[in-house]
Amino acid sequence: MDEQMPIGVTIQEIIQETPSIRTFVFDREIVMRPGQFVMVWVPGVDEIPMGLSSPSSITVQEVGDATGALFAMLEGDRIGIRGPYGNGFAVTGRTLAIAGGVGVSPLLPLAVAGRVDTFLLGARTASELLFVDRIEEMTTLLVATDDGTAGHHGFVTDLVSRVDLADFSHICVCGPEGMMMAVLGILDLEGCAGRGQFSLNRYMKCGVGLCGSCCIDPDGLRVCRDGPVFSGDMLLRSEFGRYARDASGRRYGV
Ligand code: FES
Repeated sequence: MDEQMPIGVTIQEIIQETPSIRTFVFDREIVMRPGQFVMVWVPGVDEIPMGLSSPSSITVQEVGDATGALFAMLEGDRIGIRGPYGNGFAVTGRTLAIAGGVGVSPLLPLAVAGRVDTFLLGARTASELLFVDRIEEMTTLLVATDDGTAGHHGFVTDLVSRVDLADFSHICVCGPEGMMMAVLGILDLEGCAGRGQFSLNRYMKCGVGLCGSCCIDPDGLRVCRDGPVFSGDMLLRSEFGRYARDASGRRYGV
């Protein structure tokens, strides 16, 4: 695939995963590493980065104009994709995965590949828990919900105390930034921030390292090219958990 040119794909299947999350399966398989993303062109609306939940799918929560337009599309409709981009998760030993909400999406391919030994998964409520059956087939799963309707009543970060972090060479994390920051705080206290791999979400225009819209302070690392997965010790001295930038480059709190 040409690195910067979108290709047209047809939406083959739309799966309603939870009340607010859908998987869009397209008619093309992409050679990918778990944690990589594609730029998705929603015709007439916008182009947005989306993590791949499989070589031929993205899993999306409706949060803005582009995802809203995607949710209005039907099976048989066409979208553009380019990629895959980014580094993805790099694991070689025992791995713990920690996900919140739709953040489980880029971690699912890692679990499906048999590379996750224990998975901690959180959501607001039982009906918003995503990919539970598929993860349970592959690995040990512990669940938390904010309202206590499934698993532990509380946050997914509470579950970290139920595992021995020393057992894991890698701790792969994706979810809302506040949740990831809480995990990073725990890893830092335990002296293992460097074993954390965090998947960042930032505004992106080009997706290929050229425009600078996704750079993070203070080093100017590009989330699209140098990430989206960064080690915890690198993030400890960055904007992570404090602010991000919108399309105009203005800061907003995360
Ligand atoms: S989106 Fe353009 S440099 Fe990352």
